[in-house]
Amino acid sequence: MVGGASGIGWATAQALAADGWQVTIADLDADLAAARAGELDGRRGAAAGDGFHAARAVDVSDEGSVEALFDGASPDLVVTTAGVSTLGLVTDHDAAEFRRVVDVCLTGAFLVFKHGGRAVRDGGAMIAIASLNARRPGRGMAAYCAAKAGLVMLAQVAALELGERGVRVNTVSPGFLVTPLTEPVLQIPGLAEEYAENSAIPHRGTAEDVARAVLYLEGSPWMAGEDLAVDGGAQLERYPDVLGLATRAFS
Ligand SMILES: NC(=O)c1ccc[n+]([C@@H]2O[C@H](COP(=O)([O-])OP(=O)(O)OC[C@H]3O[C@@H](n4cnc5c(N)ncnc54)[C@H](O)[C@@H]3O)[C@@H](O)[C@H]2O)c1
Repeated sequence: MVGGASGIGWATAQALAADGWQVTIADLDADLAAARAGELDGRRGAAAGDGFHAARAVDVSDEGSVEALFDGASPDLVVTTAGVSTLGLVTDHDAAEFRRVVDVCLTGAFLVFKHGGRAVRDGGAMIAIASLNARRPGRGMAAYCAAKAGLVMLAQVAALELGERGVRVNTVSPGFLVTPLTEPVLQIPGLAEEYAENSAIPHRGTAEDVARAVLYLEGSPWMAGEDLAVDGGAQLERYPDVLGLATRAFS
């Protein structure tokens, strides 16, 4: 469970553990990952940290770190949720900031597919968390949207290549939901309301909704190269004007 210490990754780790999986929580935040693994152990009635579930430090933007994570491992399922976001117009976005987002969201997922794909058992599954923004552009969100669109295509190519071994590679694309990543953004006045108004289902989604989709894909032996939207039907309507609302709120 790469990026498993927070938000969607943590919800997914909990859902997998509740389903009987032995989970390794790998995250940039090693301390939080260790605490989360201990929490999962505690829920089994075992002493926290008895080692059924595990924690590892990983930085998906560093190939050596990702390679070391999978060294000697043979998981049945690899899930990657590691992601970061930023705001900036195409015409004045800082290139280093653009690269930072692509590095984590796209190249990071490539490195997980590369080394995780070598390690995963035949017949297993790899699932990456993409985004509604893989299909829907948002003003000021070029780096994130481009990285997530690239991730969906990356997963489709990986699905073709790994399908020979029965390994199913898919993505889940969530809409806007509250996690530590989006909490500050969702505080922008009008944003949550605009999202809801432009969705088929107006209530707010949760990280648990996304976790459910991950488990569904894992248990679906004939699904490969699919991008599963979990967004309340938001792709049917208009994406909120994040930059416009932020500019009006803070200027
Ligand atoms: N929350 C949303 O509304 C939403 C919507 C669509 C897509 N997503 C995607 O879902 C994924 C999870 O997001 P979240 O909302 O749970 O955010 P989050 O910030 O709660 O969790 C992201 C996790 O990734 C880890 N991480 C960040 N950089 C890393 C790196 N270089 N190496 C390893 N781990 C790293 C963080 O430490 C954190 O634990 C992201 O890819 C995000 O783009 C989120």
